[in-house]
Amino acid sequence: MVELTRLKPAPMPTVLPLYEFQATGPVADIYAEIKRTLRVPWVGVLFLAWARYPTFFRALWNGLAPIAATRVFAEGAAELRETVMDGVGALEPVPVLGRLESAGYSPREIDEMRVLFQVFDHGNNQYALLATLARLCLEGGSFGKTRPMEHREDQGIVGAPPLVLIEMHHAGPDLRAVYEDVMATLGLPFVNTDYRALARWQSYFATAWQDLKPAVGGSAHEALAAEYHRLAVEIACDLPNPIGLSAETLCAAAEADATVDEVLAVSRVFHYLLPGLCVNMGYFESQLTE
Ligand code: 2OP
Repeated sequence: MVELTRLKPAPMPTVLPLYEFQATGPVADIYAEIKRTLRVPWVGVLFLAWARYPTFFRALWNGLAPIAATRVFAEGAAELRETVMDGVGALEPVPVLGRLESAGYSPREIDEMRVLFQVFDHGNNQYALLATLARLCLEGGSFGKTRPMEHREDQGIVGAPPLVLIEMHHAGPDLRAVYEDVMATLGLPFVNTDYRALARWQSYFATAWQDLKPAVGGSAHEALAAEYHRLAVEIACDLPNPIGLSAETLCAAAEADATVDEVLAVSRVFHYLLPGLCVNMGYFESQLTE
């Protein structure tokens, strides 16, 4: 039995996301299908990175799509979200509402932030399960319980405004410095979508990041991320596997594009970062509690 330990790749592999604004043809089509299936307005960076390996990307999504369309999958993601929101108080999030109001943020803008957090919660917990399955198969593991194959009926987050992403090449010097700090603090070579969306309110994001930063990597943060990791593995291993996504299929597909080691190293980056990202977003969200 393959055991997925919590593991930060060292050295960090090269990760080359194929961003949505760059995608065309079949990749853009699969990106649209991912968003439709998960009911989210963005393609997680993990899929942007996997898209650099076209045979693997197609085989992976082919196997994951029917899983992601089930009710048990959506329920598993919701359980992960609850774990974060139940546990994030241990990080003692610093309230931010008063500072936002003093800076001139209106209640409508603050409500938009709250909706944005719901959008990212809705997607990230699904992406965490999918990253777990990808890593599991690439490490030679298997999964697939006989579970009810009912289709999910959730609609995603209703009323969410379109995502506005401030990309690195859009950022002026101040925001670029915050992005550099985020990457250095998290030890990652790119800025996750969530932060690029929050940066639409640049002064808010800079403030919230300064509040969160001291907690990152601390014992409460790591304990919650580790619990998230454990639960994500448990839930993922218990999911149905309608078309039999397997180590053999995925490893052969990875070998067609690169090597299993390379694709596995990239996959481990996301399997590692998603628990921490979900904790960070939970921290920001709870800072906005009245
Ligand atoms: C990202 O796209 C998965 O939200 C995560 O960065």
